Amino acid sequence: MNAIERRALAEAASTGGGFVVPAHVAIIMDGNGRWAAARGLPRVEGHRRGVEAVRATVRAAGELGIRVLTLYSFSKENWSRPKSEIFDLMNLLRRFVREDLAELHRAGVRVRIIGERDTLDADICSLIEECESLTRDNTGLTLVVAFNYGSRQEMARAAQCVAMDVAAGRLKAEEVTPDHFSTRLDTAGLPDPDLVIRTSGEQRLSNFLLWQAAYAEFVFLPIHWPEFNREALERALIEFSGRERRFGGLESRS
Ligand code: IPE
Ligand code: IPE
Ligand code: MG
Repeated sequence: MNAIERRALAEAASTGGGFVVPAHVAIIMDGNGRWAAARGLPRVEGHRRGVEAVRATVRAAGELGIRVLTLYSFSKENWSRPKSEIFDLMNLLRRFVREDLAELHRAGVRVRIIGERDTLDADICSLIEECESLTRDNTGLTLVVAFNYGSRQEMARAAQCVAMDVAAGRLKAEEVTPDHFSTRLDTAGLPDPDLVIRTSGEQRLSNFLLWQAAYAEFVFLPIHWPEFNREALERALIEFSGRERRFGGLESRS
C-alpha cells in the first residue's frame, strides 16, 4: 500500500461513521493455476498457496469487523477439469478441514457451505456437515464457502422447491415474491453481498451469486489469489468506500 492509499484508508477510518466495512464481502478466488505457471510450478502448488491466502483472509476479515465472508472455492463447472486436478483440490479440502476447523471454531467462526450436496462423495458431505454442526452456535465471523456451487443451479433448485409447494397447495403463486424466493436459496438468512472481489484480472461472475449480487459493488484486482492478503483486502475496501450506492434511487446509501 502506498502513502496516498494509506492516507485514504486513515481518512476513511476517521470520517463520521468510520471506515466503511461492508457487512458481507464475497470473493471469487481466481488465478491459482496462473500464479503457479508463472513460477514454473505445478497447478497444485498454486492451490496449496491459495489455501494459505484463505487462512490470512479469514483472519483479516474477522479483525476488520466484516460479518459475512463468502469464498468461491469450487464451481459446478470446475468438475470439467482434469481428474488429477479435481483429486488434488478434494484432498486440499479434506486437509483444510482436518487442520483448520478446530482453530476456526476456537476463533468463534460460524461455517456455512452453499452449493449442491446430493451429488458429492459421502466423505466430503460428512466433512461439510461436521463444519456446520461444530460451529453452528458461534457468533463471530460467518464464513460461507461456496463449494460445488453454481448460481443458476441454485436458482433452479429453489424454483423446484417453490413449484412443489405451489403444486401441493402450501403456497399461492402470487406469494412467490423476490423476498420469498430468497428464502429458498442456499444463502437464505444471509445478507446480500455488498462487495464482490475477484482476483486474477478476469472480470466476470462465473456463475457466482447472480441473484444475491444484484446491487453489489465489484472490485477486480490484478493479482492472483495466492498473492491476496490483508493489504489487498484493505485496498478493495478503500475502493468500496469511495463508491456511491444508490440502489436505483437518487441518494447515496452505504
Ligand atoms: C482458482 O484458481 C481455484 C479454482 C477455480 C478451484 P484457478 O484454478 O481457476 O486458476 P487459473 O484461473 O487457472 O489461473
Ligand atoms: C471461478 O473461477 C470459480 C472459482 C473461483 C472457484 P474459474 O477459474 O472456474 O472461472 P472461469 O472458468 O475463468 O470463468
Ligand atoms: Mg480460474
